[in-house]
Amino acid sequence: MTLVEIEQLLDQSFVAAKGALSGARNAAELEAARVQFLGQKGFIQAAKKSVGQLTVVDEKKRAGKLCNDRDRELQEAYQHNLSRIEQQDRAAALAERIDVTLPGRRSRRGRRHPLTTTCDDILAVLAGLGFQPAEGPEVEHDFYNFEALNMPSDHPARDMQDTFYVDAGARNDVVLRTHTSPVQARTMLASGKPPIRVSCFGRVYRKDDDPTHSPMFHQIEGIYVDKEVTFADLKGTLQLFAERIFAPGVKIRMRPSFFPFTEPSVEVDVSCVACGGIGHGGSSAADDGRCRICKGTGFLEIMGAGMVDPEVFRACKLDPDAVTGFAFGIGIERVALLRYGIADIRLLYENDERFLSQFVG
Ligand code: DAH
Repeated sequence: MTLVEIEQLLDQSFVAAKGALSGARNAAELEAARVQFLGQKGFIQAAKKSVGQLTVVDEKKRAGKLCNDRDRELQEAYQHNLSRIEQQDRAAALAERIDVTLPGRRSRRGRRHPLTTTCDDILAVLAGLGFQPAEGPEVEHDFYNFEALNMPSDHPARDMQDTFYVDAGARNDVVLRTHTSPVQARTMLASGKPPIRVSCFGRVYRKDDDPTHSPMFHQIEGIYVDKEVTFADLKGTLQLFAERIFAPGVKIRMRPSFFPFTEPSVEVDVSCVACGGIGHGGSSAADDGRCRICKGTGFLEIMGAGMVDPEVFRACKLDPDAVTGFAFGIGIERVALLRYGIADIRLLYENDERFLSQFVG
């Protein structure tokens, strides 16, 4: 073939080849076009052979370049259509597998943990009574956890709270807070100016581990400091609190107690939610007739409270002759166990779906 003939061959066949390679609608059509135009017996190969027979160097170069250009363009068209067809085949295979008439898969809805619900409810009630949320660190200085709360280093009350000490290098005065009360001290020192009315929720740690105690648990602390805050204010606040958290009509009972940071101090009970404060009979009665929840006493302990001790005011740079205040500390787990009739505190930490799904919230 002469140069002109080669050029004619390449030009004429090119249009048909490109149309077939780009337009093939499936793998079989595409393969047929590839064999026809790009295969051993195709026009590109024929043209390449003829180029080898040209004798004029310039003509050989020109024809060779044209051959290669056409070849490359057709290879590209082929590859492009090949990917398109493969994609189309994959989608078709998938569509066959999806049965759109099947009912959808339900995604299960999460629920709030009973501890979270209890805590949120308590904080909401306290917020309604004017207590602003406050926070403090879980890794705490001895000063805030003990010292400022009238528990100097030799105070026997420190034993009430078996403490985890933190290995803090040369310092031996860093603890995991044993209660949320240090936030009282922090708040008073930071504010310096009554009225102060805050609530603090958080984790606390003690060396305790049995069905009703966990080494980590949660408390909510409340403190109210102002001129002329009285014990009656404390009682009224806690009565209202108990009714909102448990049920309208529950009674509270205060028993004298001791905490180094309050004077006087009380332990606060609510009438039993299971037997209504009677102590026996009804659905919560054990074999001997006594209520299983309150062990026949008719009351359940839920918190410690009292009037802020003058020593605490002094440590927190407030004048005990000018201000008074009350404080209280509530164990959230305890309230949750009572509210929901849960027997073992450890259930609250296991995250067993069968347990958690029983709580609406
Ligand atoms: N901090 C005490 C505890 O963990 C609870 C408590 C008692 C807090 C009396 C108070 C309070 O604020 O006044 O056992």
